[in-house]
Formats: sequence, structure tokens, C-alpha cells
Amino acid sequence: MSSASKLKFKNPRARHDFKGRTCSITGVGSYLPKRILTNAELEQMVNTSDEWIVSRTGIRERRIAGKHEHNSHMAAEAATRAMAHAGVTSAQIDLIIVATITPDMPFPATACLVQQIIGADQAAAFDLEAACSGFIYAMEIGQQFIMSRTCDTVLVIGSEKLSSIIDWTDRNTCVLFGDGAGAVVLQNRPASHGLLTAIMGADGSKAGLLSMPGGGSMHPATVESVSARLHHLRMDGKEVFKAAVTAMITAAREALGRCEIEASQLACIIPHQANRRIIDAVGTRLGIPEEKFFVNLEKYGNTSAASVAIALDEAVRSGRIKRGDLVMMLVFGAGLTWGAAIIEW
Ligand code: ACO
Repeated sequence: MSSASKLKFKNPRARHDFKGRTCSITGVGSYLPKRILTNAELEQMVNTSDEWIVSRTGIRERRIAGKHEHNSHMAAEAATRAMAHAGVTSAQIDLIIVATITPDMPFPATACLVQQIIGADQAAAFDLEAACSGFIYAMEIGQQFIMSRTCDTVLVIGSEKLSSIIDWTDRNTCVLFGDGAGAVVLQNRPASHGLLTAIMGADGSKAGLLSMPGGGSMHPATVESVSARLHHLRMDGKEVFKAAVTAMITAAREALGRCEIEASQLACIIPHQANRRIIDAVGTRLGIPEEKFFVNLEKYGNTSAASVAIALDEAVRSGRIKRGDLVMMLVFGAGLTWGAAIIEW
């Protein structure tokens, strides 16, 4: 990534540019567990049908990590692939950020476990929790460290073992989610292509729509909390659906406005892979044709913070995203949180 961008912005907030520093994604990678859980198998577990799941969500199958395949293992594998793609060694990594809602344990951070696995001895490491929006939040934070010259090479990972917090007797939620990890390497590439802008938002008044109440300091693990099923993900699907469409549209418009570009100039949109109908509703309202959205949710379901990272890796490796393309990543999640990032690839 060496040639200069052809885009010229009047708005100084359009491009994160600080004295010739530009934050570029120089490597992408992902990891999916081998075990595939199909809709037909779910029909045997809860009162559901392949027809219901496909027509309401678009999901056909999802990946499930093995009992001893931990979040940190998936994160480290995705990170290793992204580092190989970028051509950097673990010794070059200054910072590791893992976006996740399913860390290996409440502490220490999964990012520290990843640091140990990949041997990035020089790197600082922390986790970030913004649910399905976590990867965009983490990329934006990584970028700030690069622009401020605190770091030259940052590893940003979205990784989830959602199968560990799913209530496998609840048909409203168990059909929706899967496990996996995706990663990017961020580096300073002066006067080159890179991250143009990132929007982040949150609305804590809607925190109750999507949560796992147990396991924190409010409801520590007790016999009662386990029997009340507080340690499982719970969701008001209908309300989350409505809030997601509104938040993604607002974030997309704000990001486009900041960059002074039209939606028609985008070559590809990588949306959070939660539900095909949410993506269709966002596309219709923004006037963006279906074929511009990169969608892989039929294979993996909703992998929360890993979702857009896995999709970005697949889009780049399949040639769907090409050099110079304008790409928008668009997310929402529990919190509620949301975000959008525009990248000149
Ligand atoms: N199989 C069969 N029937 C089901 C299933 C299922 N798996 N799940 C729910 N139903 C039933 C419901 O019980 C309900 O039955 P009832 O009318 O007898 O009560 C009926 O189907 C309709 O349910 P709705 O909730 O109205 O279905 P809806 O069309 O809203 O689809 C869905 C539900 C798919 C959950 C949708 O609301 C959705 O996708 N919401 C967004 C969820 C989401 O994206 N969450 C992730 C957020 S990201 C993060 O941070 C983790």
C-alpha cells in the first residue's frame, strides 16, 4: 500500500490524517471452527424449522468451537493469519486489542492470552467490550494509537465463543449465533490508502434489550443465578431489529457525510452479519443495491464482534474488495452500540 490516495476532502474530519501519518489495514485473517451446526440439527434440539430460520434470518448453518477450543485459540489463529498476510512478525506488534463479549474468563484479558500464544512479547494488550460493534470500536482505538505515534503496528481482533453463553433450549436465540474470529493488522503507511473515518455511538437506555445479566458483580454466579438462567444471552429480538436498522442507517449517513461521498461511490459494504432482513432494510432505506453488500451470514450466523472481521477477510481474499475501492463497515450490537467505518482500500 504505497501509492497516494486520489480522494481530496474539504472536511478535515474526513480523513484521519496527522502530519503525513495514515492508518492502513495491511493484513487480514480469520478462523472458523470446523464443526458445522446445521438448521436440520437445530430442528432436533428445539421446536424450529429450517424454513423458519432461513426465511426470518437467512442463516443456514453456523460454526461451533470444540470444548477445548477457546476464544484465545481462535483469536490467535486469526491474528497469525493476518500477520502473515501483512508480512509482519509477532515481535513487531506494539498493541493487541481483542473485541469480545465471550472472553476466556472475566480476567485476565483474552488479549494477554493471545499475546502469550503468538509470542508478541513487546505488545501491550487489552480487551474491549462493545458487543457486535466491538470490532469497529477496536479499529478506531487502534487507529488513534497509530496516529498519535504511540504505536506503529496494532493487531485488532474480533473473536467470540458465543456457543458458551447460548441457552440451547431457547429457540428465540439459539438459532442465531455462531463462533469464530477475525483480525486485521493496522500500520502507519504515510500518504497511502487507509481508514478514512469511523463513527461510534451508544444508547444505554436500551441496555435491557440484549444482555447476559449473570456473571458480573451485579449477579455473581450462585446456585440461584444459574437456575434463573442469568448466565445466558437474552434478547428482545423485535426491538433489537428496529433499533438496529435505525442505528445502522444513521451511522452510515454520518460516515458518508463526513467523507463527503455518496453511497453510490461505495464499492462494497460489510454489514454486521446478524440477519439478512436487517441488511435488506438498511440497503433499501439508503438506496444501496443488494449486490453491494457482502453477506456470509448463511454460513456462520451472527458471530458478534468477529462478524465484520471475518466478512472483511473473506471479501478481500475472494477479490470482492479491490485496491482503491471505497468500503464501508457498518455495525450494531448490545449496549446498544453502533458504528461505521469507511476505508479506502
Ligand atoms: N423457530 C420457530 N419459531 C420461532 C423461532 C424459531 N427459531 N424463534 C421465534 N419463533 C417464534 C416466536 O416464538 C413467535 O411465536 P409467537 O408468535 O407464537 O409468539 C414467532 O416466531 C414470531 O417471532 P418474532 O419475534 O415476531 O419473529 P421475528 O420475525 O421478529 O424474527 C428474529 C425474530 C429473527 C430474532 C428477529 O427479530 C431478529 O433478527 N432480530 C434482531 C436480532 C439480532 O440481530 N440480534 C443480534 C444483535 S447483535 C449482538 O450484540 C449480539
